[in-house]
Amino acid sequence: MTGIQKKHHTIITGGAGFIGSHLVDRLLDMGWQVTIVDNFDRFYDPLIKEKNISKHIGNLNCRLIKADIRDLDNLRNVLADEYDVIVHLAAKAGVRPSILAPLEYQEVNIKGTQNLLEFAKEKEISQFVFASSSSVYGVNQNVPWTEEDHVLMPISPYAFTKVSGELLGHVYSHLYGIRFIALRFFTVYGPRQRPDLAIYKFVDNMLRGEPITVYGDGATKRDYTYIDDVIVSIIVSMRYNQTTYEVINIGGNHTVILTELISSLENILGVKAKIKRYPEQPGDVPQTYADIGKAKRLLRYMPSTSITAGLNKFVEWVKSNQRK
Ligand SMILES: NC(=O)c1ccc[n+]([C@@H]2O[C@H](COP(=O)([O-])OP(=O)(O)OC[C@H]3O[C@@H](n4cnc5c(N)ncnc54)[C@H](O)[C@@H]3O)[C@@H](O)[C@H]2O)c1
Repeated sequence: MTGIQKKHHTIITGGAGFIGSHLVDRLLDMGWQVTIVDNFDRFYDPLIKEKNISKHIGNLNCRLIKADIRDLDNLRNVLADEYDVIVHLAAKAGVRPSILAPLEYQEVNIKGTQNLLEFAKEKEISQFVFASSSSVYGVNQNVPWTEEDHVLMPISPYAFTKVSGELLGHVYSHLYGIRFIALRFFTVYGPRQRPDLAIYKFVDNMLRGEPITVYGDGATKRDYTYIDDVIVSIIVSMRYNQTTYEVINIGGNHTVILTELISSLENILGVKAKIKRYPEQPGDVPQTYADIGKAKRLLRYMPSTSITAGLNKFVEWVKSNQRK
């Protein structure tokens, strides 16, 4: 065959954020062309997001578009190329803040998702990967949670928007044949983690000798997923072609009790945590626990980073960040 082969081109919404920027790194390494759509939302310091993607500025395979996914007309104007896949990660994240600003969450997470689906329909982009969340399960005693569990009981506006995103995806998949893969991420952690998330706050405060805030008695359980495992699951989903609509858990299939997490961090950091206790927060679920059988079957997903290895890598990153 002669001539230059066309590169695969993907839109990554939220590409300057925690998960998005890792995906950008990996896809550029793999030779993809990447268009980042991000409005550098003020949910946390936009400078962190600038830094996340700074090394790609000037890379001809990487285009950064500062745009808000709420504005479909503008997306039509600024996204004029041909694209093979949309990976839709942009969202207002976080359970607790969604209780304070439910309408904004609805605007960004639901209307924004529908805008991207409309855009995919108009541009005939046939593959759409959506960042859903373990929070859709709400308070569900049937652990580990499987995707066949149809009785979703979200207990926060954020979780509700993610259920809605999954359902909107079904509509567009059914009507227009867009392949829609919703990945339900279970607490993702690792370098560049959002500063509002517990692991980040714990490490940061413990290193500075400040107390950490624990809501409830510390018995809550979380299934944690290391960022590298999440990125592999997204990349495989970008190529998945067996069925037109899937919802898939991406977790560790292992729960960690909050007090155990704190003990592990104490061991790694060599620091005794000073704990400030507050009552449980509305919207927080007592446990998350992923059944990952479906991800194994469909995506050959196999999480490869243990919580201890992942926490060690995360702590290294925080320390090197502080040194800079
Ligand atoms: N991190 C986790 O543990 C976790 C767990 C479950 C689901 N998720 C989902 O994964 C996705 C990525 O999460 P993250 O942790 O990387 O969060 P993040 O906040 O670091 O990234 C989200 C990005 O979206 C951008 N954004 C927000 N509103 C926008 C708008 N209106 N227009 C354009 N861009 C906008 C933000 O600026 C940010 O860069 C989100 O959809 C989140 O809900 C994350």
